[in-house]
Amino acid sequence: MTQSHPFDYSSKRVVITGAFSGVGAALLDVLVELGGPEVIALDIKKPEGPISTFIETNMGSVSSVAAAIDAIDGPIDVLFNNAGIAATHPVEDVMAVNWLGLRQLSEGLLPQIEAGGAIANTASIAGGQWPGHLQEVLECISIESPEELFGWCGEHAELVGDGYAFSKECVQVYTMKSAKDTLAKRVRTNSVCPAPIDTPLLPDFNKTMTEKTIDWTIDQAGGTIATPRDIAMTLSFIGSDASRYVNGVNLDVDMGFNAFMTTGQLDFSGLA
Ligand SMILES: NC(=O)c1ccc[n+]([C@@H]2O[C@H](COP(=O)([O-])OP(=O)(O)OC[C@H]3O[C@@H](n4cnc5c(N)ncnc54)[C@H](O)[C@@H]3O)[C@@H](O)[C@H]2O)c1
Repeated sequence: MTQSHPFDYSSKRVVITGAFSGVGAALLDVLVELGGPEVIALDIKKPEGPISTFIETNMGSVSSVAAAIDAIDGPIDVLFNNAGIAATHPVEDVMAVNWLGLRQLSEGLLPQIEAGGAIANTASIAGGQWPGHLQEVLECISIESPEELFGWCGEHAELVGDGYAFSKECVQVYTMKSAKDTLAKRVRTNSVCPAPIDTPLLPDFNKTMTEKTIDWTIDQAGGTIATPRDIAMTLSFIGSDASRYVNGVNLDVDMGFNAFMTTGQLDFSGLA
C-alpha cells in the first residue's frame, strides 16, 4: 500500500479565517504548493488569492460567526483560525475577534471536522505570559457569554490591558485545554506563536507596543523579521498529516526568541 505524502493537502477541505492579507494570504499560496485543497475563506474582505468559497464574516460578531458556521456544509479536514487584530482597536473588539470568534468557530465546526483532522490557531509570542496567571486565564476562557466576558475583563483590567497579549494568552491556554476535547474526535488542536511578522498588521503593533520594542524583538531573534510565508509554512505543518502525533502544542515560530528569554540570553540593553 502506498502512503500519501505527509504534507499533501490535495484531497483536503480547509477553512481559513483572515486570508485577505498577511499570513492567511501566504497560507493560500503554500496550500496550492502542497496540492491545492478546497479552501473556504472567512474574512471581512474577500481574498484575492486562490480560494473556492468566500463567506463574508466578522469574527468579532457572534451572529456573523454563527451564520458562517451555518453556511459551511459537509466535512472539513483543517480549520485555520488565523484572523486577528491589534490593540489599535478597542479592547472588547480585540477580545471578540482574537478570542471569542476563534472559540465559537472551533466549537461550531468541530462536529464537521473529520477524524484525523486538525485545528490550527495563529496565536503569538505576545501570549506567552500565561504561566504567571494560569488560573485567571482558565477562568476567563470558561466564560461563555460575550457580555459576561467583557464584564470579567473590566474587573481584571490590569491583567487584560489593551487586550492583545491577553487574547493570545487565551488562545494558547485554550489550545492546550481544548486539545483534550478535540482528541476525543481524533482531531488535533495546536497553535503557532509567531514573533513580529512583516504584514500589514506590523505598523499597528509599532503603535501599540512601540517601534523600539518591536525592533528590539526582531534584533534579539537574529535580526531578520519573519515573513508571512515563514508562518504559513509552519501553519501548514500543524494542519497536515506530517504532525499527526502533535496535539495541544503552542509552537513558537520566533527564531529562538522565547528560548533565549527562558535561558536568560536576551540582551535588554537595546531597550534602555
Ligand atoms: N504581524 C505580526 O507581527 C504578528 C505577530 C504574531 C501574531 N500575529 C497574528 O497573525 C495573525 C494574522 O495576522 P497578520 O499579521 O497576517 O495581519 P493581517 O492584518 O495582514 O491579516 C489579518 C487578516 O484578518 C482579517 N480580519 C481582520 N479583522 C477581521 C474580522 N473582524 N473578521 C474576520 N477577518 C478579519 C483581515 O482582513 C486579514 O485578512 C493574527 O492572528 C495576528 O494576531 C501577527
